Amino acid sequence: MKIDVIAIFPEILEMALHVGILKRAIDRGLLEVCLHNLRDFAEDNRRTIDDYPYGGESGMVLKPEPIFAAVRSLELKETTRVVFLTPQGKPFNQKMAERFSLGTHLILICGRYKGVDERVREKLITDEVSIGDYVLSGGEVPALVLIDAVGRVLPSALGDYESAQNDSFSRELLDHPHYTRPAEFEGMRVPDVLLSGHHQKIMDWRRNRSMEKTAEQRPDLLRKFKNNEVLD
Ligand code: ADE
Repeated sequence: MKIDVIAIFPEILEMALHVGILKRAIDRGLLEVCLHNLRDFAEDNRRTIDDYPYGGESGMVLKPEPIFAAVRSLELKETTRVVFLTPQGKPFNQKMAERFSLGTHLILICGRYKGVDERVREKLITDEVSIGDYVLSGGEVPALVLIDAVGRVLPSALGDYESAQNDSFSRELLDHPHYTRPAEFEGMRVPDVLLSGHHQKIMDWRRNRSMEKTAEQRPDLLRKFKNNEVLD
């Protein structure tokens, strides 16, 4: 999987690529991430990448020329997906991360200010993705969220494959609580069932706690789960 990121502040993503699962995926050749500074594709000496919106309103819009030049500088494949990170996009979720992870090339375009000139959307962009119903100052953090979520589900990126399968949202319920040693800490005991060695009882306990957690935090998910609706 190759991911090209086009951003005004690509350095925001830099550090995260050097730690943890992403670093391992990169070191093992499963993932390649290339960061591109949009200003390098500006046409003037002042490296201008934005301009005033036509029609008169506040804010600035990313100009089309540098973005077209940046995308055209990359080697595109038939299956390349060009993803624009924007609060106007489709809500990102685990299914989407898994779908993206099956491809081989993503180009992530990070917006800033009021977004991009509409002609970029019309001609270049295949997917618009939002990481939630709030407005961040730019698409760099959302791009990192997407890279992290996609990178960790790449086939064999996780040391423990089973742990991805068991993630919240890989199944349709939220995760159950976890405990590790000591069995008692400051008067709080680990539930007896987890120490019982009784596999079926442990599975039942985890299932029930998952249901409770989901009812508490995400009643919308529990409803879908009970109605057997597929999450997409
Ligand atoms: N850019 C600014 N806010 C965003 C969000 N919530 N999701 C994706 N891109 C964004």
